[in-house]
Amino acid sequence: MNTQKNGNLPVLELKGLSKSFGGLHAVRDVTLKIMPGDRKAIIGPNGAGKTTLFNLITGIFPSSSGQVLLFGQDVTSWPSHRRTAMGMARTFQITHLFPKLTVLDNVLLAIKGLRSSKFVMWRFLSSYSEVYDKAHHLLEQAAFMDRKDTEVRYLSHGEQRQLEIVLGLASDPKILLLDEPAAGLSSGESTEMAEFLMKLDPKLAILLIEHDMDVVFDVAHNISVLHFGEVLESGSPAQIRDSAKVQEIYLGTD
Ligand SMILES: Nc1ncnc2c1ncn2[C@@H]1O[C@H](COP(=O)(O)OP(=O)(O)O)[C@@H](O)[C@H]1O
Ligand SMILES: [Mg+2]
Repeated sequence: MNTQKNGNLPVLELKGLSKSFGGLHAVRDVTLKIMPGDRKAIIGPNGAGKTTLFNLITGIFPSSSGQVLLFGQDVTSWPSHRRTAMGMARTFQITHLFPKLTVLDNVLLAIKGLRSSKFVMWRFLSSYSEVYDKAHHLLEQAAFMDRKDTEVRYLSHGEQRQLEIVLGLASDPKILLLDEPAAGLSSGESTEMAEFLMKLDPKLAILLIEHDMDVVFDVAHNISVLHFGEVLESGSPAQIRDSAKVQEIYLGTD
């Protein structure tokens, strides 16, 4: 039984996590700890094992060995939805937005989608002031209130990617896993994405995979470099930027 107070408990802890696909060791012995409010990035060349690591954390793949702990609880054998219920959210590349509905309606549906009652008439749903209040809170927090009545199809690609993250926040996660949130964005949109992420609730932990180093250095307080499935080095953005080893395998070549 863990008697620590919640504040001292890591949101997420990986202990010797490994995954093999046949003879290929995609993730090897990864150990890391994420505390409430931590902003951590995982970087590394293509094929380093970053997405596989996310799939192990979120329960998409079973691990070959090692453990995943959420708030001290061993969830290694838990399916994804149970991890989500405990406070883990992940955004996917595939969009879950409804382009012909407004920003607000998309958020309302995301919140409603988490609740149990199905087949509820829209008019009935509209009367739920609790759901509305939550939607407004989410949109305010994400600085989206000015666009709440805009149909999603009229948002820029960068704004749509941000909105997907807002929808991910509907489940009140304690940790948000983002796999390349700036992928496919222009450099201006990437800068806006970084600014958007930096404005999110400081208590929310973020684990970020990202190729755009400007976004990584803006958002992350700590960076781990994955190379052939292993953590090659972890440290502050400055330590990683100055690491000869890291420059050799990653920064210099990408
Ligand atoms: N489902 C899978 N089956 C077999 N091999 C896989 C699978 N997913 C990923 N791999 C392999 O694992 C390695 C790591 O891939 P991945 O985690 O996607 O890397 P990254 O996200 O860092 O680019 C690669 O060699 C990839 O081909
Ligand atoms: Mg990947």
